[in-house]
Amino acid sequence: MKPLNRTFSIAPMLDWTDRHYRYLARLMSAELLLYTEMVTTGAIIHGKGDYLAYNEEEHPLALQLGGSNVHDLAICAKLAAERGYDEINLNVGCPSDRVQSGRFGACLMEEPALVAECVNAMRAVADIPVTVKTRIGIDDQDSYEFLTEFVETVRDSGCDAFIIHARKAWLQGLSPKENREIPPLDYDRVYRLKGDYPELSISINGGIKSLEECKTHLTKLDGVMVGREAYQNPYMLAEIDQQLCGIEKPVLSRDAVLEKFIPYIEKHLQAGGRLNHITRHMTGLFQGEAGSRIWRRYISENAHKPGSGIEVIEQARKNMIS
Ligand SMILES: Cc1cc2nc3c(=O)[nH]c(=O)nc-3n(C[C@H](O)[C@H](O)[C@H](O)COP(=O)(O)O)c2cc1C
Repeated sequence: MKPLNRTFSIAPMLDWTDRHYRYLARLMSAELLLYTEMVTTGAIIHGKGDYLAYNEEEHPLALQLGGSNVHDLAICAKLAAERGYDEINLNVGCPSDRVQSGRFGACLMEEPALVAECVNAMRAVADIPVTVKTRIGIDDQDSYEFLTEFVETVRDSGCDAFIIHARKAWLQGLSPKENREIPPLDYDRVYRLKGDYPELSISINGGIKSLEECKTHLTKLDGVMVGREAYQNPYMLAEIDQQLCGIEKPVLSRDAVLEKFIPYIEKHLQAGGRLNHITRHMTGLFQGEAGSRIWRRYISENAHKPGSGIEVIEQARKNMIS
């Protein structure tokens, strides 16, 4: 099995990194590693829809699972491997009430032995890497030793790649959004972890906004994972292969990205899909360019109308230039 390139990955983001966004991201970089939104074991096992569907073009693609029932996680891991996912990632970072009441997400940091058991069970049935995305701590349990005890216990179950969101989570009193903003970032703690466990692949996440910042982190770590910036300003992805992975090839312009995306959108529309299900991920494509607000506004005001087609995108682009 070829090892996955973890240099740059896009963070799992519920409602945001769906397969349409992931297709767009892949157009800009062949090297980045994509993660699905978190999918709960309950949805996969009992849900009516196909929660494991994706486009072949998305590879390499990791499925992020939410859950803590060892048996259910094993079932889902097996299905994921059969469906061709390249990695399974367990969510040990989400602090939402709903997730806590299901006893998974960030609150699992308190139960490293259970996480290890889950990883073990998934590895036993799936011949693809099983990784863990976590925080540097929860509530008052925010010492370096708390983090290393967690990492060591999970490592001993065979997990050799961790993604660390470099801030702790407060399990009570803060919304998930606040838990992505209020607890301070502590990049040094993640660097220290890598220094102490050089054999592990450690990726850093949280607050990263540019490829220059990525380069700085990559001098100390194996990978960077970017969430909000990669969504709000997707064109930042256009130079990952060249700048972070040392690949020589031309950088696609924003219009070239758009042009490559159009056939995908047309296929979606022909299959009865709605335009705004895709365009909502494109409003930031021209961020930083003259007229980007005109683009954003035209799309937001028109793409949701019944029967809207590619002409909305074309008109939005024309309005920007004229
Ligand atoms: C809208 C939204 C949804 C998110 N959903 C998930 C999720 O499903 N699983 C997960 O592990 N983290 C989730 N996160 C957290 C991100 O993966 C990431 O850890 C966080 O946004 C910090 O990275 P950033 O500063 O680069 O955005 C979500 C974040 C946002 C903004």
